[in-house]
Order: sequence, then C-alpha cells, then structure tokens
Amino acid sequence: MSVNPRPHKESFKRIPIAKPVFSASEEEALLEVLRSGWLVQGPKVNAFEKLFRHFIGAKYALAVTSCTSALHLALAAAGIGPGDEVLVPAFTFIATANVVEYTGARPVFIDIDLETYTIDCTKIRKYLSERPEAQTRPRCIIPVSLFGLCADMEKVNKIASKHGLSVIEDAACGFGARRHGHHAGTEALAGCFSFHPRKAITTGEGGMVVTNDDHLAKTIQALRNHGASKTDFERHLEHGGSLLPEYDKLGYNYRMTDLQGALGVAQMEKAEMILKGRKQAAARYDELLAQVTEIKTPFVPGWNKINVWNRTRNRVMTQLEAMGISLRQGTHAVHTLGYYKKKYALQDHDYPMAYLADRLSLALPLYYGITRQEQRTVVEKLKQCLS
Ligand SMILES: Cc1ncc(COP(=O)(O)O)c(C=O)c1O
Repeated sequence: MSVNPRPHKESFKRIPIAKPVFSASEEEALLEVLRSGWLVQGPKVNAFEKLFRHFIGAKYALAVTSCTSALHLALAAAGIGPGDEVLVPAFTFIATANVVEYTGARPVFIDIDLETYTIDCTKIRKYLSERPEAQTRPRCIIPVSLFGLCADMEKVNKIASKHGLSVIEDAACGFGARRHGHHAGTEALAGCFSFHPRKAITTGEGGMVVTNDDHLAKTIQALRNHGASKTDFERHLEHGGSLLPEYDKLGYNYRMTDLQGALGVAQMEKAEMILKGRKQAAARYDELLAQVTEIKTPFVPGWNKINVWNRTRNRVMTQLEAMGISLRQGTHAVHTLGYYKKKYALQDHDYPMAYLADRLSLALPLYYGITRQEQRTVVEKLKQCLS
C-alpha cells in the first residue's frame, strides 16, 4: 500500500514570481548592437533615454547600471554626505538605505502606513518636530513608491519644503504608476527606476534617474561617467573620440551598456501592452481574492477608482438610453477640453473636483409636465442598471 503518493508531475507547472516579456525584437536589437561595435553608452542608450523621458514626462532621463546606482548618484548630486540624515521608510528593499550609507550620511528609518505600504507622513512630521539635538541634520527624504503605488508626494513635498529638505523618490517598482496624472518619479527633485528582471520592463540590470533640474542632470551625467565633463557620445560626435574630456569631479563608472540600451528601446515599445496586461492580472487577483477573507488586497487610491466608476456611469447611461430614457453627464470640466487643455497646458487633475463631477455626474430627465409615473420609471430603471 502506498502512503503519501507523490503528486502527479504532469499536473504541476512551476509558476515563477515574475517573467520578462521578450520577443524577436529584443534578439534583433541585441544583434544590431553586437554588429555595430559600439557597446557602452552610445546611440541605443540615448534612444532609450529619449523614449523613457517622453513616457514619464520629465525633462531629463539618464540611464545607469541599476536603481541602486541611480539613487546613489541622485544623493551625491544633491550634495548629501557626512553629517547629513536621510529619512527612508523602514519597509523597503535594502538598497534604499544602503545608498545613504555610501554617501557617508545616516539613514533614519520612518515607519510606514500599513494601508499603502509607503512612508507615513505623520511619522515624518513627528520625527522632525521631536528629534533630539544631534550632530547630524536632516537633509533629504527618500519616499519609496512601492508595488506600483505612489507615495503621497504632495504631503512629502510639503514637509520637505517646510524643513528645507530635498526629495529623491525611489521609484524602482514605479514604472507605469501615476498619481493625480503625474508619473512616479516626476514629483521629486529626482526619481530613480530599476530595470531588474522583476520589474515591468527589464534590461537585465539597469536603472534610470529622471529630473527636471538642469544642474542636477548635468552633475549626474558627469558622475555616472567617472566625473567626465562630456559623455562618450558627445565626445565621439565632436572630435571622433580623440580628445579626452575634463575630469573635475570624483565620479563612478555607472554607465549603461548599449546592449542594455537596445533592450530598453525594445521594451519601451511593449510598455503599454505590458502595463495593461499587469493591470488586468492584478484586477483578476482582486476578484479571485475577494472570496479569501484572510487576505487583504492592496489599497487602490480613490483617484484610480474614478476610471472604474466612470465606466459604470457610462454603461448605465447607455443602458438607459436603450430603454428609451435619456441621461447626460452633468456638464463639462472645461479645463479637460482640448482647446483649453492645449492653450493653457492644463492637466485633468488640476481641478480635481470639477474632473470628478465631469466623470461621475448624471443629469436625469427633468421638464415641465414630467409625470410622477415617468419619474418612477426613471428611478426604477436606474436602480435596475446599477444593480
Ligand atoms: C524599492 C527598491 N529600491 C531599490 C531597488 C534596487 O534596484 P536595482 O536592483 O535596480 O539596483 C529595488 C530593487 O528591487 C527596490 O525594490
């Protein structure tokens, strides 16, 4: 008699924690670089940076070897060093704290908000107002946008400006995450991304710093390349590479290879598709896990729910129209309409309440002479559609 029979091998297929999305385009991109002979920080890195900064909506995107090196460079360029304190969430990957140690500054851990898994702003305030006199002084906050959920950058920035601190966002896992229309990494002095294979898009190892600050970008550009005043790309274009640049800073070798740059370009072409697929899979987990009462699914900020509610509102309107009842949205959030949006560079979220009303309001039939019975029918049908 067999005890503990082994599970049927064929019925079990291993499910990895993550899977990169590669196709022939990545293979061809790599071959192209190998054949070109330009292997480090060349045209493909340039092209990847350009695609990335357009996608994110930042003035500069500077490719480096990892998110860890991106964070290290951002701190160094912001002038963080010995005698400084950097506030980091206590729940994050170790690299967020390690980079502070690299600079000689001291990481100060701040607890997180369990609802969002991001740094708790009330605890930052508490620390800053109650900290004992010390030899070190707070200089910077590194909020981490974890699992695609952005830290509350509005609150972090408010605290930072009150206390004269810089903000460097660790958006290692933030590619594709937006908060009030702003992409992760763009509401801080600098935002840092990872392209490790567990992330949405990957270049094997790899990272990116984004910033809108001219001086910071120039400093990071030099520091990632041994402190050189010019990139290899600029040098080769200007003088065929023969004249060496000035080295007036102590830099590092954090250059991305063109093989990684080429992978990055191919991955950016798939970015929307990958993000859409991941969002669908997350929604599927939410649905499946709804029956598992012991598990709490991730917090979804109200802002993201608006699109879901908007789709419900629109569905209800279409269904009622088919039943012979005309409904309309309340009226327009004028700042979201093409003419004004373009002319005054407005974002949907600049007037959040108007945007909310635009997306979610319903105007019911109302005119002189509408009967009680007609109104009853409107409400009955509305209830029917909503259920
Ligand atoms: C929050 C966070 N910060 C930093 C890093 C480091 O990224 P990299 O492996 O690209 O250096 C990671 C990596 O997973 C991370 O999750």
